[in-house]
Amino acid sequence: MEIVGNTSNCAQCKRQCSRKTTEMWFQQLILSILVLSVSGLAQNSEDDKFSLIRYLICINDNIDVNLFSNEIELWTQLHHERELFKDMINSLKIPTELQNSDWRTFSANAGSKICVLCRGILRTFINLRRKGMSEEDIRNNIIKLCILFNIQTENVCKGVIELNLPIILYIIDSKPNLTAATICGVVLESKSCPLTDPEFDWIIDVNNNSHAVTENETQEEIKILHITDIHYDPLYEPNGNSNCGEPLCCQKGQNKSDMTSFAGFWGDYNSCDTPWHAITDALEHMKDTHQGIDFIYFTGDIIDHGVWETSEEGNIQSLTKIYDYIHSVFNNTIIYPILGNHESNPLNQFAPKNITQDNLTTNWLYELVADLWIGYGWLPESARSTISQGGYYTVVPKKGFRIITLNSNVWLWYNPKDPDNQLHWLATILSEAEKNNEFVHILSHIPPNSNSCLKTWKREYLKIVNRFSHLIKAQFNGHTHNDEIAILYNSDMEANNVAWNGGSITTYTKLNPNYKVYTVNCRNYEVADYQNWMYDLSSANENIHARPTWYKSYSFKTEYGLPNLSVKSLNNWLPKVAKNETLINKYYRNFYKQAKPSLQETCDINCKKKLLCRVIVHSKKKMLCDNILTSSVHVL
Ligand SMILES: *[C@@H]1O[C@H](CO)[C@@H](O)[C@H](O)[C@H]1NC(C)=O
Ligand SMILES: *[C@@H]1O[C@H](CO)[C@@H](O)[C@H](O)[C@H]1NC(C)=O
Ligand SMILES: *[C@@H]1O[C@H](CO)[C@@H](O)[C@H](O)[C@H]1NC(C)=O
Ligand SMILES: *[C@@H]1O[C@H](CO)[C@@H](O)[C@H](O)[C@H]1NC(C)=O
Ligand SMILES: *[C@@H]1O[C@H](CO)[C@@H](O)[C@H](O)[C@H]1NC(C)=O
Ligand SMILES: *[C@@H]1O[C@H](CO)[C@@H](O)[C@H](O)[C@H]1NC(C)=O
Ligand SMILES: *[C@@H]1O[C@H](CO)[C@@H](O)[C@H](O)[C@H]1NC(C)=O
Ligand SMILES: *[C@@H]1O[C@H](CO)[C@@H](O)[C@H](O)[C@H]1NC(C)=O
Ligand SMILES: *[C@@H]1O[C@H](CO)[C@@H](O)[C@H](O)[C@H]1NC(C)=O
Ligand SMILES: [Zn+2]
Ligand SMILES: [Zn+2]
Repeated sequence: MEIVGNTSNCAQCKRQCSRKTTEMWFQQLILSILVLSVSGLAQNSEDDKFSLIRYLICINDNIDVNLFSNEIELWTQLHHERELFKDMINSLKIPTELQNSDWRTFSANAGSKICVLCRGILRTFINLRRKGMSEEDIRNNIIKLCILFNIQTENVCKGVIELNLPIILYIIDSKPNLTAATICGVVLESKSCPLTDPEFDWIIDVNNNSHAVTENETQEEIKILHITDIHYDPLYEPNGNSNCGEPLCCQKGQNKSDMTSFAGFWGDYNSCDTPWHAITDALEHMKDTHQGIDFIYFTGDIIDHGVWETSEEGNIQSLTKIYDYIHSVFNNTIIYPILGNHESNPLNQFAPKNITQDNLTTNWLYELVADLWIGYGWLPESARSTISQGGYYTVVPKKGFRIITLNSNVWLWYNPKDPDNQLHWLATILSEAEKNNEFVHILSHIPPNSNSCLKTWKREYLKIVNRFSHLIKAQFNGHTHNDEIAILYNSDMEANNVAWNGGSITTYTKLNPNYKVYTVNCRNYEVADYQNWMYDLSSANENIHARPTWYKSYSFKTEYGLPNLSVKSLNNWLPKVAKNETLINKYYRNFYKQAKPSLQETCDINCKKKLLCRVIVHSKKKMLCDNILTSSVHVL
């Protein structure tokens, strides 16, 4: 028996739990562990995480994994709900208003219960599959379960499960030793749900003979435009339904007779992506406003959040249309693009290269982007082999300067060991760069401070970055849609690398659109400063006949009073901001890109400090965070 906890404080705890949190764990279990797909949905604040944990502690208190598993299995045989199962459903059912959030923001310290649940549900369906249950029966059962627990609307349940189930069954079928414990360990990544499978204890061999890279004496600077997370919605409908109860609204076909919330012309703060005319406006504005752009970094996510209804053909259309358009606007500028987690079909599913089965392979995407990116003249032919291998590549745009791009969307369940050899390749390329006296920028969709970055992979990635931090002068990311940065700390708890997040063109959700322009010195390719550009969506929507008023909202150096953006300066930045409420408020407002619907939500000073701690990337993050927020040791 695996009974955990007691029920005593449950009623009280339930009352205290914030409304926004309850859906996440179950969305995680069903949509993600069973369906492994969800990290592309909405983000949650750190705040929710703590309420979620409180919720978890109370609500699952007396659920036993075997009992739960038995009930599910009985239910699949009896085709009706026994009283006990009904009770379980009643206590676990998801309130509709809480259906869309990202479970990965919760760090699972209190995760022993969620772990029991995860293992229980997965165990049932892995067993049933191994006993010969057909794909169709499993699909129908999981769809019913998804609806019973109100995880999502019927539409979304069906779509997401139909898209993802073949992949999961392929993995279960081809890995007879794969257990629920391993999958839950990988997905939950917590101490209370440990990953003990030795297959995951791999390391990347790194050449340890470090040597210095010498700086160039030039005074030259380059300008880099950073665009990210467009999320183009081909079905966007101004005046359509912006509160539709699905993960993506404002689309044609979602009108209801009792609609109360209408999609804005330029976009919408609700769960809506970007209309075509807002994309052309943004790109033309960038082109007209900034002269002398040397390169463009485009860090991914072109496809919309209609994650239950994507198709290969639809993705090909949107990808081609957006790349073509960018190419036509910036016809004299080289773009360095990477893949976002939404580019595959279904989202997040990037199969390893050696899986060639028709409906599972990602090769269509790799071939498509290799042809486009090389065809536009953005990349040399030499980039093709690694793009085909796994969507990553490296180029040397100037003597002494190398760009390395990664595909941070990897299939760890199937092949835990460095899928597609990407990290091994990274270490090899960095070692060459070091020999060739090159400074490096790394482009990767998912930032190193994100929970969507899987732990095993992240551990080895950070080890490599740490080893080569003297040549890696900046990383560029997207994915979170927030305007934020990540600072990587070494074992001495000193900052030794920085990752700049570009924000997003999409307003998904409760955000304004933005992009960044960096000046980078050619001495060592460190970012010298950046400007953030944005517009206020609600003002834009008040006057739909005029183009939105883009403006420079701030430059990093001036905003936070820094002499330069070296890691040495950034090492002092966090403690300085943490001690000054004016600066904390600036970071907070910038994080949400000044969007009123986000700023109107309650967030006291402690809540704002939690946002600051998101900046920290370190294995003892919590300790370092407490240190920085409370002690005076690190102050300038
Ligand atoms: C599964 O586990 C058994 C026993 O530990 C081992 O002999 C076998 O090689 C494993 N099979 C696979 C495919 O890993
Ligand atoms: C490099 O150093 C690490 C950590 O000190 C060590 O674990 C690893 O074995 C070394 N690699 C080589 C190739 O010597
Ligand atoms: C949906 O409703 C909006 C507002 O009433 C209207 O402008 C739009 O044309 C409707 N769309 C369809 C497809 O009926
Ligand atoms: C780039 O586009 C502009 C405007 O459409 C056009 O005038 C110019 O000739 C184009 N340049 C190249 C190199 O194609
Ligand atoms: C793909 O490669 C992985 C890792 O080498 C291996 O475990 C797996 O069996 C291979 N799959 C196929 C279908 O060849
Ligand atoms: C691939 O998917 C299509 C559409 O869902 C289906 O008709 C076909 O049977 C699938 N093929 C394989 C090999 O699974
Ligand atoms: C130094 O920078 C200048 C200007 O970018 C460049 O032309 C030159 O090749 C660089 N020298 C080295 C050794 O990288
Ligand atoms: C950057 O600022 C730091 C102080 O934070 C200073 O020590 C360092 O010399 C400056 N570096 C450059 C290149 O100006
Ligand atoms: C806090 O930061 C603001 C803005 O940079 C500055 O004007 C103010 O002097 C700082 N306050 C303290 C107490 O350091
Ligand atoms: Zn995105
Ligand atoms: Zn993303």
